[in-house]
Amino acid sequence: MVAVTLGPMTHHTDTNPGAGVDWDAESVTFDDEPDHGLRDPVVREAWAARMAAWLPRQASDVLDVGCGTGSLSLLASERGHRVTGVDASRRMVELARAKLAGRDAVFLLGDAAAPPVGEERFDVLICRHVLWALPEPGRVLRHWRGLLRPGGRLVLVEGRWGTLSPVGLPAERLAALVEPLVAGLTVEPLSGDARLWGREVDDERYAVVATA
Ligand SMILES: C[S@@+](CC[C@H](N)C(=O)[O-])C[C@H]1O[C@@H](n2cnc3c(N)ncnc32)[C@H](O)[C@@H]1O
Repeated sequence: MVAVTLGPMTHHTDTNPGAGVDWDAESVTFDDEPDHGLRDPVVREAWAARMAAWLPRQASDVLDVGCGTGSLSLLASERGHRVTGVDASRRMVELARAKLAGRDAVFLLGDAAAPPVGEERFDVLICRHVLWALPEPGRVLRHWRGLLRPGGRLVLVEGRWGTLSPVGLPAERLAALVEPLVAGLTVEPLSGDARLWGREVDDERYAVVATA
């Protein structure tokens, strides 16, 4: 198994590159990264503007899979949306619950690939920096598509990080997986907006926004 550096974290390359990460341990410093904690107002505003464009205008039910500490969940909640977050790390779920305390938001411990939401359906499923590391992303996407109400949206923020030994999911591949499942999609490049990352980046970062 080879360890590669992916931004702030160490990931392990095998058939499931994210499987070797101890997310409970990572949770302690996770929000120190500009795009994770969104503590810098410039970075926060950059993500808030993207979320405003990606999410419906009217108050909606948003499912944040692999929600981590809940930073994007909080941006969604601040726009009036009702949020359900799911994460496999107990510590991440605790931090997300604390971050959104008092809001219309629930956080569940569970598998992003099969969120424990029963028969509940959502207007938006958002996922940032998680799908790339899940086994069988095509199967996961089909399941996620089934969690949407008619006309619902998938908002998938992904990338292919690093230059020497890049890891992740190229936009072209993700778009090809999503395209047969939806009525339409756009691929939004994100690498050129340094405000999102708190620095210039030269690898591939993007969002796929799809309408069911
Ligand atoms: C890179 S972090 C992204 C967190 C959050 N989406 C964000 O953008 O700030 C990856 C998150 O996915 C979670 N995760 C990884 N594999 C998962 C799985 N199979 N099911 C649920 N959560 C998972 C980790 O616990 C971690 O919180």
